[in-house]
Amino acid sequence: MRPLAGFDYSRSGNPTRAGLEACLRSLEGGEACAAFSSGLAACSAVLQSLRPGDGVAASHDLYGGTFRLLDKVFAPWGLEVAFAQNAGLDAYERAIGALRRPRLLWIETPTNPLLDVLDIVALSDLARKRGMLSVVDNTFATSYLQRPLELGADLVVHSTTKYASGHSDVVSGAVIARSGGLLEGIRFLQNATGAIPGPLDCYLVQRGLKTLAVRMDRHCANAQALAESLVGAKGIRRVVYPGLDSHPGHALAARQMRGFGGMVSVELEGGAEAARRFFIPGANLRLRGKSGRRGIVVLSSRHYDSRQRAAGNQTGARDRRRDRAAQCGDRKRGRSDRRCAASPRPGRLISQADRSGRAREEQIGGTCQTKAEH
Ligand SMILES: Cc1ncc(COP(=O)(O)O)c(C=O)c1O
Repeated sequence: MRPLAGFDYSRSGNPTRAGLEACLRSLEGGEACAAFSSGLAACSAVLQSLRPGDGVAASHDLYGGTFRLLDKVFAPWGLEVAFAQNAGLDAYERAIGALRRPRLLWIETPTNPLLDVLDIVALSDLARKRGMLSVVDNTFATSYLQRPLELGADLVVHSTTKYASGHSDVVSGAVIARSGGLLEGIRFLQNATGAIPGPLDCYLVQRGLKTLAVRMDRHCANAQALAESLVGAKGIRRVVYPGLDSHPGHALAARQMRGFGGMVSVELEGGAEAARRFFIPGANLRLRGKSGRRGIVVLSSRHYDSRQRAAGNQTGARDRRRDRAAQCGDRKRGRSDRRCAASPRPGRLISQADRSGRAREEQIGGTCQTKAEH
């Protein structure tokens, strides 16, 4: 049998993967897309396309795995990384100012887990003025709720493992670029390092994308209802959801997103101990990092149905326990105190941990022992 024209070896190109890439590219309004075997593989390819010595300024709050990647893999590899201290534009300006050779602005919005909303137009503009590329991790919003390329970003990364595929049966990721030229180095890495998704995974993500719009509408409705019902509830200190008027990023989210997303964070009275009890009574969970110590837990709207609530028929206690346990298992983070095996080049990490306003600098040598807050 003759191979399909242009497809002679599946790591270099595969028709099902090409179909998924065309679909993701069009959903984001980009010119080019490269699919990867996970969201973190997609993030890695973007970072690997930089050179040792290049500088990355990153969001103050960030998915723990992305933080670990910067902190434990790419800073030792030679990237210089500075974290903004908060969601304000001036905090990003300061982070960029701390870099010797600023190249990339890493924006995650809404952030995971604190759900801060960052101004994509303003930050992309800032990056452009400083001669940097901007990349937005659009996993939490999806291309249905937020289109960063239209707001000025250069690259978008996704963990399509989540909402995009929607069925919890695949791990995958993607990078989408505003222009084909911006993706060239990343596409080279896709083939050269080989973190490609298999054809079946590509099919599964495409199958999920067919229902993305209806699922996201329902996620938003469920999350809004859940957040409103938790405000003022016993044991809840604070509810964080961009759809609430009380959220500092509410107006911005209304401007740059079609809906407010499916994730809700709550801060419990009683801190980490209360959060531990909330998940599984009696379980000896280790809650780590800033959010863990403050007792912040993140709820997915998957676990709440606004229709059931309207009918006064909430999920049974056993289902709730199972869902909480499943979510807790999903959210294994905080492995960041492990030492990194290979760290050939010394890099520099400007930590977000110092809340006094002064960035703390740490030289990273053979082993990486920097503060990891996630
Ligand atoms: C915002 C965000 N980006 C990236 C990732 C990494 O994706 P994956 O688990 O597909 O590697 C995650 C995973 O939770 C995430 O929440």
